[in-house]
Amino acid sequence: MKTLIIGSSGLIGRNLTSKFIEQDESVICMDLDMGATPNLDGVELVQGDVTNYDEVLQTITKYEPDRIVHLAYLVGRGALQDLSLSLRVNLLGVDNVFRASVESSVPRVVWASTLGVYSSIDYEDGIVVSEDSPRPYSPYTAFNTASYYSALKHMNEYQALLYASREGLDVCAIRPSTVFGPGRYTGYPWVGSFVEDAVAGKTTNVPMHPDSTFGLVYVDDVIDLFEKVTLAKKLNFDVYNTGGNLISLAEIAETVNTVLGGNFVPDSTKEPTFQFNISNERAHNEFGFKILSFEDAISTHASLLS
Ligand SMILES: NC(=O)c1ccc[n+]([C@@H]2O[C@H](COP(=O)([O-])OP(=O)(O)OC[C@H]3O[C@@H](n4cnc5c(N)ncnc54)[C@H](O)[C@@H]3O)[C@@H](O)[C@H]2O)c1
Repeated sequence: MKTLIIGSSGLIGRNLTSKFIEQDESVICMDLDMGATPNLDGVELVQGDVTNYDEVLQTITKYEPDRIVHLAYLVGRGALQDLSLSLRVNLLGVDNVFRASVESSVPRVVWASTLGVYSSIDYEDGIVVSEDSPRPYSPYTAFNTASYYSALKHMNEYQALLYASREGLDVCAIRPSTVFGPGRYTGYPWVGSFVEDAVAGKTTNVPMHPDSTFGLVYVDDVIDLFEKVTLAKKLNFDVYNTGGNLISLAEIAETVNTVLGGNFVPDSTKEPTFQFNISNERAHNEFGFKILSFEDAISTHASLLS
């Protein structure tokens, strides 16, 4: 199987590239900035911009991939830095990949949506969200700075469904929860640094209330699901949640400080914010997919650093 990974220098892309190469899969990598793409034997490297339709189409035409994994994006609050660039990368870029895949008859496109598409559901204690949960969206009722990114992902989901229904594109979304692991440099700064900080004996100050909750998932689990969905002969669904370990900042502090000897410090002067439990039962039933516990995940990450 030949897979084109677009966004191969990012957290998910670079880890997925390494995993595919370990398993002797054939990989072509494309990113605007190739600096962090693993330069491994067997990887074809293509510097390219997803906002440029011709570059996307030429790459697909040249390499004729069996699968595309589309991960190039301005993530989370990164989408707010330059609103019109975000529209080009996050809407036009995704559209370019879908459209060029139809034009070149690519057999399947797998792309990353987000848990953020559920973020306008009111938080209720104990609620468990599945792929079939309603996802009402209105900026006038759910407006916050994170919701712009979620709105773009909603739009991408519409695009995917339209390309599937009108053009017959085999297109599947994965909705990751908040991902942590080696190589996370975008999104919430503390999510990218708390394990490294603990191992280096540094304090992680987190500008969030200790009662705030987060659904965290380790990057190896996320790439495991991308791999399963990419390589499967047939898929039963067109969207899968990774799920995550729903955990409060106080519990993160306790685990990180006990297991890794860290100094993880939430801020009790902030207002608490909540996430909800996101079920990955669909992926579990179809692929046997399971995620690591939070404690095992931070231990795995820390063991790579020592
Ligand atoms: N990391 C998370 O917690 C998380 C959670 C849910 C969903 N996702 C989604 O997963 C996908 C990958 O996330 P990530 O954390 O690996 O992101 P990342 O920010 O680490 O990587 C994104 C990559 O896209 C590339 N890129 C940006 N603009 C480009 C362009 N114009 N042309 C080509 N490449 C371009 C960047 O150079 C970067 O390598 C994104 O769609 C993101 O929204 C991530």
